[in-house]
Amino acid sequence: MTNAMVSPTPRPGILDISPYVGGASKVAGASRIIKLSSNEGALGPSPKAVAALRAMAPDMHRYPDGHASGLRQALADCHGLDAERIVCGAGSDELLQLLVRAYAGPGDEVLYSRHGFLIYPIAAKACGATPVAAAERDLVASVDNLLAAVTPRTRMVFLANPNNPTGTYLPAEEMTRLRQGLPDDVLLVIDAAYAEFVGRNDYSPGTAMVEDHDNVVMTRTFSKIYAMGGMRLGWAYCPAAVADVLNRIRGPFNVSSAALIAGQAAVEDADFIELSRRYNDYWRDWLSGELAGLGFHIVPSVANFVLVRFPREAGHDAAAADSFLRTKGVIVRAMNSYGLPDSLRISIGRDEEMQAVVAALTEFVGA
Ligand SMILES: Cc1ncc(COP(=O)(O)O)c(C=O)c1O
Repeated sequence: MTNAMVSPTPRPGILDISPYVGGASKVAGASRIIKLSSNEGALGPSPKAVAALRAMAPDMHRYPDGHASGLRQALADCHGLDAERIVCGAGSDELLQLLVRAYAGPGDEVLYSRHGFLIYPIAAKACGATPVAAAERDLVASVDNLLAAVTPRTRMVFLANPNNPTGTYLPAEEMTRLRQGLPDDVLLVIDAAYAEFVGRNDYSPGTAMVEDHDNVVMTRTFSKIYAMGGMRLGWAYCPAAVADVLNRIRGPFNVSSAALIAGQAAVEDADFIELSRRYNDYWRDWLSGELAGLGFHIVPSVANFVLVRFPREAGHDAAAADSFLRTKGVIVRAMNSYGLPDSLRISIGRDEEMQAVVAALTEFVGA
């Protein structure tokens, strides 16, 4: 008997996934690269986090604290939260995926906003669930459209607030209206990866909403303002029952000792975070103003990147600008996979990087 015709088959939905492609970091032939494609945090990590990481190196043979006790307590102290309801993950990606795995499966729908973060539909499909996109209004999530898209099969709603790649946000009042309009058995996941950058009075990352509801989770990351994307560290603030579920299905040592130790030092370095926030405010405004001055439409951003919209004429469009920037060693993020082929997303980087991208686009516009 031969089994040549039989091969292992993945579960339905898996082969429908277009794998997530991260921001590029190389351009063939360019000696100097300016990487503004992954919203990584312009100033790099806190020097205290780097020192803590170096100091732990000789102990890397030890397994990590599987309960992440020190880091959870530091986060709880920093944000005034209950440490028992914090769950840490290898990036917030891991937590988003665990949430879908726990709460949605075949036949279920996972709702998200049309230009929301790409991991939501990927995570839904990976679990055999059906991702459903609700249209936005002027690149801002629409509570009305999200609520109108709810069906008896909807199990979860993912909303990045602020959103990547648009940089727009929903005020706390709108988030409350969303929660109130959703059925109680639908889990609302607020992805607040960029929360620390927002300086608006009407914004809330969602911590209070988690405390007031048993069907709201907030996720956060160390990859953005903490500039520790390479460490893979994120956390979720959850109702007790959801924290219990995540703790049952996560790997027992899902976060490395290096990430735990560096992350704790980063949380405790409040001055550095404040510096990073102020730096971002200044350069986001500067970049937005300069590019608007060149005639581009800039989507107003509250995060550490801006979405720049280009005309659709060949030679002047986003694809042409992207290619031109690459000839200067500048890597930004093309937005085709987000359904925004007329846009490029530019992360806030160092002073000289911001000046270089504006100089390059000035040349592009004049060309
Ligand atoms: C909105 C949003 N959520 C989550 C993530 C994932 O972050 P992490 O590095 O913590 O997995 C990103 C990263 O770009 C993001 O933009």
